[in-house]
Amino acid sequence: MPRHFVDLFSLEPQLANRLIDRALVLKRRPPGERPLLLQGRCLGLLFEKPSMRTRVSFEAAITRLGGSAIFLRGDDVGLGVRESVVDFARVISQYVDALAVRTYSHKTVEDLAGAASVPIINALSDAAHPCQAMADLMTIRELRGSLAGKRLVFVGDGNNVARSLAVGSALLGVQFMLTCPTGYAFPQEFLARYTAAFPGSPPALEHDPRAAVAGADVVYTDVWASMGQEHEAESRRSDFASFQVNDTLMSLAAKDAIFLHCLPARRGEEVVSAVLDGPQSQVIPQAANRLHFQVALLEWLLAGETSLGDRS
Ligand code: CP
Ligand code: NVA
Repeated sequence: MPRHFVDLFSLEPQLANRLIDRALVLKRRPPGERPLLLQGRCLGLLFEKPSMRTRVSFEAAITRLGGSAIFLRGDDVGLGVRESVVDFARVISQYVDALAVRTYSHKTVEDLAGAASVPIINALSDAAHPCQAMADLMTIRELRGSLAGKRLVFVGDGNNVARSLAVGSALLGVQFMLTCPTGYAFPQEFLARYTAAFPGSPPALEHDPRAAVAGADVVYTDVWASMGQEHEAESRRSDFASFQVNDTLMSLAAKDAIFLHCLPARRGEEVVSAVLDGPQSQVIPQAANRLHFQVALLEWLLAGETSLGDRS
């Protein structure tokens, strides 16, 4: 059975920590000293939605490890239309050594993982963005030295990014809180999986953004309307109007709080330029860590445990 990276529910806390350790080690290595553990290996990328960071960072990551990438547009493949998900998964497994998939339905990623004989990586689905969340947690650890006990407040929709951050936070001891308008909290199905994985309390929820952000170590936001929700953009703009991350909201967080955003951002909506470009913003190092985390992830998926043992 190949390893997969479909969502963070199936990740052990110890492995999550080791992947971050390894990503930080590899990040510091000068170009001539990086291990080319994946020479001759090929990563497929199947994207049904637009992307900049995820596509480029995955292509750069496999190149850095000595391998190569093949990009496939969702329309060309026609998953479930031109051929079944299972037929596609079985055939693509003959050509590539791993497949990163960006799709609408999370079930598509699960079905691919069920049928493929090579690792399947979730490069964003409507329900999860695990590569993003792990790179974000890596960024917080890199900047703050540790994760345990840090308070991360996600201001906005209970979307794919927020859900993966909630799970990653639970794995790594970060205190996660979602602050959103009524009607935009985590769906029941997610909460059921979360409470099964982490018995006790569900992720903290607060409908007053000011109360939520008070004393936070990390303030995180994302677009109000995700890809596929463009038709709701207008109503969401009015529903989320009081959830904009601006100087007033940031001033309530801890003095040394950092601001994160997965990007792309809609300036003037969920965040103002003064915050996005301001001294607390770490969005560029955060985006850089997509590459470094994914190098460690590809190593683990394709080169096995040995890669994680090397901390030098
Ligand atoms: N953050 C992120 O996944 O960006 P892209 O949509 O550009 O890949
Ligand atoms: N929540 C956003 C994230 C984009 C990286 C979306 O799904 O469109």
